[in-house]
Amino acid sequence: MKYLAYDFRNMLRPAVGLHGADEKFLEINAKRLTEAKNSVLAEWKNRQQGWLGCPDDKPLVERIRKLAARKSTFDTCLVLGIGGSDLGTKAAYQALKHTAKGGMKLAFAGSNTDPDELHETLAGLDWQKTLINIISKSGDTIEPLSAFLIAREKLIKAVGEKKHAAHIVTTTDRERGALRKLTQRFGYDTLPVPDNIGGRFSVMTAVGLFPLACAGIDIVGLLKGAAQIRTNFTKGKQATDEASIFALLQFLADTERRQNIHVLMPYSSRLREMGHWYRQIWAESLGKKFNLAGDVVHIGPTPISALGATDQHSQIQLYNEGPNNKTVTFIKVTKFDRGLKVPDSAKLLPGLEYLSGIRLQKIIHAELAGTAESLRANKRPNGTLAVPEISPESVGAMFMFFEIATALAGHLYAINPYDQPGVEEGKVIARRLLGGTA
Ligand code: PA5
Repeated sequence: MKYLAYDFRNMLRPAVGLHGADEKFLEINAKRLTEAKNSVLAEWKNRQQGWLGCPDDKPLVERIRKLAARKSTFDTCLVLGIGGSDLGTKAAYQALKHTAKGGMKLAFAGSNTDPDELHETLAGLDWQKTLINIISKSGDTIEPLSAFLIAREKLIKAVGEKKHAAHIVTTTDRERGALRKLTQRFGYDTLPVPDNIGGRFSVMTAVGLFPLACAGIDIVGLLKGAAQIRTNFTKGKQATDEASIFALLQFLADTERRQNIHVLMPYSSRLREMGHWYRQIWAESLGKKFNLAGDVVHIGPTPISALGATDQHSQIQLYNEGPNNKTVTFIKVTKFDRGLKVPDSAKLLPGLEYLSGIRLQKIIHAELAGTAESLRANKRPNGTLAVPEISPESVGAMFMFFEIATALAGHLYAINPYDQPGVEEGKVIARRLLGGTA
C-alpha cells in the first residue's frame, strides 16, 4: 500500500497560470535537485546526519519496547520537552492515540514556562501511577528542565526519595549536558539522542518512539511508513520522488514568485498537531541569515499551520483574495474511521435538505475539493497530500516526507538546515537575565 501521495497539478502553470511552476519544472531543475539529493545522501553516508537511518534502528526499537514493557505498571507518562523534543510526539500521539493497544495516557508539559498551565497539568496527576520522561538533547533547556525539577519534587514528596528513580526516564545526549549528569547521579533509566540527529529531525529516535511505545502505539508500523518514503527518495539517480518534488515546488514558489508563505492545512483534527510539527521543521531549518558561503541572505519561507475545514472560516478569505504570496498544501485523509451521517432531520432545515443522509467524510472531502478548486480558480498554487487513512504507517510516512523535503530545500536554498543560531541567541540572553552563565 502507498502510504502517502502528492497531487501537485494545482502548483503548475496549466492550473494557475504564471503563479505556478513551469510544467517542465523537473527537467529544468533536474541538475540542482539531483545535486541536493546527492548532498543529503552524502551527509547520511558519511554519518554527518543520521535521521534517514531511523527506520533501520532495530536494536533501539527492541530496547525501547523492553523499557516500555518494564514501565507498563504506570498508567500515565508525563512527557517533558520542547520544540524538536516534543512536537513530533504530540503530533503522532494526537493522530494515533485511537489506535493504541493498552498503554499509558500521555500528558505533556515543559514546552512553556507558564506557571498556571504547569500547575494544572501536574495537579491532575496521580504520582504513584505516573512515569516522567524528560527529553532534552542538550540537557540544559530552561523550559523542560525547570518543569522537570518541579515535577520531580512533587514526585519525591509523593513516593519518597528512594522510589522516585523508578518513575523517571531521561532521553538526552549520551555524554553531554546537565541532564546526563543528573541521570548518572540518580541512576535513572535513560535513552540516547544520537549526536548526529538534530531535535526537529528526531521524532523517530528514542525522543518520540519511547513515549509513543509507552502509549501502546505501533512504532514498528510508524517506521515502516517512513521507510517507504525513504526508499522512494533513495532509489534511482534522479530525484523524482514526491518529497523531492514538494521541496522543489515550494523552493521555486518562494524564490521565483515570492510565494514565501507555505501553509499546511490538514483536513483532519487528528492531524492538527502535525501542522505544528511541520511549522517548526520548515521554519527553524530554512529560516537563515547566512548561506553556506557565509553571505548574509536572510532567507526562508514562513510556514503556517491551518486546519480544514475549520479555518475555511478564518483563513481562506485571505488565501483566496489577499496577496498571491502563498502556497497551500492540504492533507486529505481518504478514509476516516467513523461513518457518521447527517440524519434525515436535515430536511427540517430549509435549504439544507441535501445534507440528509450524507456521511461527514463526504462533506469534509467536498470541502477540501471546493477549497482547492476555488484557490486554483483564483490562480493560487496548492497541492494535496493524500493518506489512505490515519495509521502508524501514514504518520511515519508524513514525518519522513517532510524531513526529506526540509533537508532538500535546505540544500536548494544553499543554507544549513540543521542548525538554529537564531534560537540559541535568545536562550543565551535569557540565561544571562536569570543569572546563569552564557
Ligand atoms: O530542533 C531543534 O534542535 C530545537 O527545536 C530543539 O529541539 C529544542 O530547542 C529543544 O532542545 P533540547 O532537546 O536540547 O532541549
